[in-house]
Amino acid sequence: MDAFEAIHSRHSQGKVKPDPVPRELIEKLLEAAVQAPNHYKVRPWRFVVLTGEGRSQLGDVMAASQRERHPEFTQEVFDKTRALPLRAPVVIAVGVDQPSEAKVLEIENVCAAAAAIENLLLAAQALSLGAKWRTGEWASDAKVKEFLSFESDQHVIGFVYIGYPEFVAEPAIRPSFEDRTVWMG
Ligand SMILES: Cc1cc2nc3c(=O)[nH]c(=O)nc-3n(C[C@H](O)[C@H](O)[C@H](O)COP(=O)(O)O)c2cc1C
Repeated sequence: MDAFEAIHSRHSQGKVKPDPVPRELIEKLLEAAVQAPNHYKVRPWRFVVLTGEGRSQLGDVMAASQRERHPEFTQEVFDKTRALPLRAPVVIAVGVDQPSEAKVLEIENVCAAAAAIENLLLAAQALSLGAKWRTGEWASDAKVKEFLSFESDQHVIGFVYIGYPEFVAEPAIRPSFEDRTVWMG
């Protein structure tokens, strides 16, 4: 699959099979991710790969945090939250380092990590894996960050859910670039 085909055929695939994804393929995705551009070569991305029990532990932390913040919620809500990371056999949490030098900008580190996620999504597409970039309230949840060993000031910009697709989706028809583009010169 060439780059254009991967870009145009990529779509969020939320429905994936529970079958495990070989570590070798996950490493291929991460290898693609770290080819992203990053200013001052700071490599600001951090990945936490959750499979098997790791996903259940994340679910437990999410549900416990939600219970603390919303004790009024029903047990059914907490159970649903606990099961969220089990929607795919692999969940990769992506964090961003805070700049450690004055010349490095926080927004640029976030941009670089986002580019890494896009690389990862395109690589997944090229490998016929289904993937979906998710955030939700969990990305800024202090307890989730702590569980993932991120510092409290580190941004978590995504949880990428990955697995073998349940079905092949119709190609997405996306709006043109034209109304978002001005040509100068
Ligand atoms: C930063 C970011 C956060 C996202 N968070 C969520 C999310 O929490 N839940 C979700 O269903 N989709 C999430 N998405 C996926 C978008 O909803 C999805 O990309 C969009 O619907 C377009 O669909 P496509 O990826 O198939 O083109 C997120 C995407 C980005 C870039």
